[in-house]
Amino acid sequence: MRTGSTLLAATALIISLGSSVGALPKVSRVGKYLYTDSGNRFFIKGIGYQTQGIIVPGPDNVYNQPSTFVDNLADSAGCARDLPFLQKLGVNAIRAYSANSSLDHDACMSALSDAGIYVILDLTLPLNGSIDTTLPAWSTNTLDQYLRTIDTFEKYDNILAYNVGNEVVSPTATQSAPFIVAAARDIRSYLNSISSSALVGYAAIDGPSSFVDDLADYLACDHGSGGAALDLFGLNNYEWCGAAANTTFNGLNSRYADYPTAAYFSEFGSENCNPNPRLWTEVPVMFSTPMTDVWSGGSAFGYFHAISRGHEFGMAAVSADNTTVTTNGDFDNLAAAYNAVTFVNTPAKGSTSAPSLPACPSSSAGWPVSTKVPPTPDDAACGCLADALSCVFSPPTPDYMILVGDLIGVACGLADQVGGNCNDISANGATGVYGAVGMCDPTIKLSYVFSQYYELNHHAPTACNFSGNAVINTAADVAGAQGAASSCIPSPAVFTPSAPPVLIPGAGKKYNSTSSNGNSGAGVTSAPSGATGARGARGAWVGASAALGCVVGSALWTLV
Ligand SMILES: *[C@@H]1O[C@H](CO)[C@@H](O)[C@H](O)[C@H]1NC(C)=O
Ligand SMILES: *[C@@H]1O[C@H](CO)[C@@H](O)[C@H](O)[C@H]1NC(C)=O
Ligand SMILES: *[C@@H]1O[C@H](CO)[C@@H](O)[C@H](O)[C@H]1NC(C)=O
Ligand SMILES: *[C@@H]1O[C@H](CO)[C@@H](O)[C@H](O)[C@H]1NC(C)=O
Ligand SMILES: *[C@@H]1O[C@H](CO)[C@@H](O)[C@H](O)[C@H]1NC(C)=O
Ligand SMILES: *[C@@H]1O[C@H](CO)[C@@H](O)[C@H](O)[C@H]1NC(C)=O
Repeated sequence: MRTGSTLLAATALIISLGSSVGALPKVSRVGKYLYTDSGNRFFIKGIGYQTQGIIVPGPDNVYNQPSTFVDNLADSAGCARDLPFLQKLGVNAIRAYSANSSLDHDACMSALSDAGIYVILDLTLPLNGSIDTTLPAWSTNTLDQYLRTIDTFEKYDNILAYNVGNEVVSPTATQSAPFIVAAARDIRSYLNSISSSALVGYAAIDGPSSFVDDLADYLACDHGSGGAALDLFGLNNYEWCGAAANTTFNGLNSRYADYPTAAYFSEFGSENCNPNPRLWTEVPVMFSTPMTDVWSGGSAFGYFHAISRGHEFGMAAVSADNTTVTTNGDFDNLAAAYNAVTFVNTPAKGSTSAPSLPACPSSSAGWPVSTKVPPTPDDAACGCLADALSCVFSPPTPDYMILVGDLIGVACGLADQVGGNCNDISANGATGVYGAVGMCDPTIKLSYVFSQYYELNHHAPTACNFSGNAVINTAADVAGAQGAASSCIPSPAVFTPSAPPVLIPGAGKKYNSTSSNGNSGAGVTSAPSGATGARGARGAWVGASAALGCVVGSALWTLV
């Protein structure tokens, strides 16, 4: 067995050579373990590196999700400020929770690479930039956002993994699990197609073993693509608190003894027992046997100040002018613990046989999830449909996200009253029934329901207005919305997605795979951006709801 200090020295050597040659050792998964390309076992000795976004509590934010994000990997001054502290911590990886694919990440990524630090990057963004817990879909907009982020980061040698979700599936809302599997499947197949060795991960919320174990097996079983859906199962584990007993993880270890894919703690470092400062006595336990028989390290939470469930996390306070950092006792203790870690180097690469995959857990009262997963979102098919629809969503503001969600609910209710329905746009992870249009961008789903309603109202112009949020498409397919869906999307399938096209919501030609234009379809008026835009959207929706009553009235009258 190689000692940790030798390994660290060797790694440092590779890095110093690496920065002139230009590459960190590639890390890949062999069965349930990670190895560098020189054959050493690889462990994640990481830290969460993400400024907390703004959390607006309220009835539409029961999970207290932030609604904004800072792209720390695009903040070159911030990275330069923090790098010495990350090095002092002794981390070999950071986990970043959101990145903006249109920004420049070169300075930060190469500084991290030069310091031997890998990046685990969540592909998700706040709000609609992630698979939704309660109304999940795996759709073109989310796939394309993920692919754009991958395309932006793939050039860096220190991307270790891309996460397709963080805490999406919850103990009380499991129906998103098939969508996470579909996302992992499609991202894996895209990465294979561009010869990327990055791992595909997911970070799970912890919970009762009945939930976590079914979820873990569901993500590791073969859903028909010939292997595990996921490379890297992350568990956000806060079981160890303060000076916990060394036996704390024993139960977890035995549950995961035969887990077939790589696993790590995608977050750890509890504040629940108010240790103040945190001791990080779990670190030596996590990096020695028997933990290392199952787990490949973890990512401590977290570097920046953050508040979660009434507790304060964080180890580095940034000054108001963003130029300096003050660390705390958590930082000192974690640095001491991480720097004392000796990486275990068994089992040797190639010495273990491929572990067998678990059976996919079948649907039960405790795990009401279909084993059937949704198809690959198909931009071309959805674009074809968008062009053919008769009544098209025409957002009054570029920040239409809130409006779309609310309008879909209202439009489905209206369509139902006139004999239509929302089956085609729905996707149900509990039953495994996926409507053909369920994989399309929410704006296209909304247009699809608008069109049904308009057509069922015999193309009455008042039935395609939705308070000024819809316009008639005179070039629509005469077969109507459902006819267009069956010709554009005859048989949803699983395939390797290609680099994301540009989808232009709005009236007329909405789909153009070569245009580099943004949300600028006809009928889209300019509107304030950012927070004012969001308020604009809510305002527009209030207007829509007031006016829709009249539409319902006139529609009923029309039908009578
Ligand atoms: C990404 O950055 C660009 C340029 O600053 C900005 O216009 C855009 O809104 C950002 N995207 C997100 C999702 O924040
Ligand atoms: C707990 O485990 C660590 C790492 O193996 C060891 O250094 C420490 O002495 C153990 N503590 C106790 C109380 O056994
Ligand atoms: C400091 O950085 C944060 C993002 O991390 C940014 O929102 C803020 O405006 C910056 N403040 C100053 C004074 O530059
Ligand atoms: C989220 O909604 C905004 C409009 O509010 C839109 O610009 C963005 O593309 C959407 N993102 C996804 C992934 O659908
Ligand atoms: C559509 O709705 C808007 C806003 O309620 C209204 O001003 C406009 O007159 C309506 N257009 C038609 C054709 O009904
Ligand atoms: C698509 O975009 C390209 C480049 O902007 C443009 O030349 C072409 O005419 C567009 N095609 C359609 C069908 O709108």
